[in-house]
Amino acid sequence: MPRNPRDFFAPLAVGAPAPLRELPRAPSRVIHFFDPSNTKMASKVPDILPRIDVILGNLEDGVRADSKIEAREGLVKLATATEFGDTQLWTRVNSLDSPWGLDDLLTLVPAIGHKLDVIMVPKVEGPEDIHYVDRLLAQLEAKAGLTRPLLVHAILETARGVANVEEIGAASPRMQGLSLGPADLAADRRMKTTRVGGGHPGYLVRADPSPTDPDAPRPSYQQDLWHYTLARMVDACVANGILPYYGPFGDIKDVVACEDQFRNAFLLGCVGAWSLHPVQIDIAKRVFSPEPAEVAWARRVIETMGDGTGAVMVDGKMQDDASVKQCRVVLDLARTLAA
Ligand code: GLV
Ligand code: MG
Repeated sequence: MPRNPRDFFAPLAVGAPAPLRELPRAPSRVIHFFDPSNTKMASKVPDILPRIDVILGNLEDGVRADSKIEAREGLVKLATATEFGDTQLWTRVNSLDSPWGLDDLLTLVPAIGHKLDVIMVPKVEGPEDIHYVDRLLAQLEAKAGLTRPLLVHAILETARGVANVEEIGAASPRMQGLSLGPADLAADRRMKTTRVGGGHPGYLVRADPSPTDPDAPRPSYQQDLWHYTLARMVDACVANGILPYYGPFGDIKDVVACEDQFRNAFLLGCVGAWSLHPVQIDIAKRVFSPEPAEVAWARRVIETMGDGTGAVMVDGKMQDDASVKQCRVVLDLARTLAA
């Protein structure tokens, strides 16, 4: 199996008339984070690899300021000693305005650039940040004699970054995808939350009063704080042929809300999410894979539609050329994951 996500561009297999836009096809439903300065956590990485699509050595937030160099060196040591198989190796470097971001790139590319697939860049504000990383990588790759270009993934976690999301997605052919960074984004937007992703019980709409009983209790419905940003990010990604991801869900014990947040992102078009703890691995894999019943339904619609044009009824539901395209998205994902 090729290890570079760019190698996963492949024509869609279903023979319908209008081909969908091609997207990178490496399974990356779960991007599992670990802190390379934490030797206990790092020692568990080899055992976890068969369960995950992507392992990410995190050098940025979550790693103590006085452990930054240890984390960088720990990642080099682990990557050098480990055979990753089909699991992609990513890293999240420190931000470009930090004292460590430049040294992260200067160290990692020559030492383990041949093993790294994707460099995640945090707090990207505009295309200029990607241009800077792109030029640096080009020089470092040339110097190190690397023949396979490193890909770049940007985290959307400032209001300015969201405002520039289309330009960020288009900034370089190295762009692999974008993740939502809800914690930093909440702070930058001055939202009044203190959580890492997920919803908030105060963010809700209240049902209207009953016209017949004004004193009847009025149910309220919690809303998704991240809907706008995720939808905007998905559009920017698809427009540029790159992949969208939900980011972190910090309440590790709340597996139910984690699954709901991941599922919202999946239904909106995201292909994966971050896992901050082993319990989130299976949640992400399950949620970002299509349900067998959905796959069977999609296959039935496509078969019933014959050449993929016109309109038919399946179980009382109208299907046409557009629903065939949606079904192809589901089948295509199922096929990619089964490969
Ligand atoms: C991730 O980096 C976040 O800020 O949510
Ligand atoms: Mg962040």
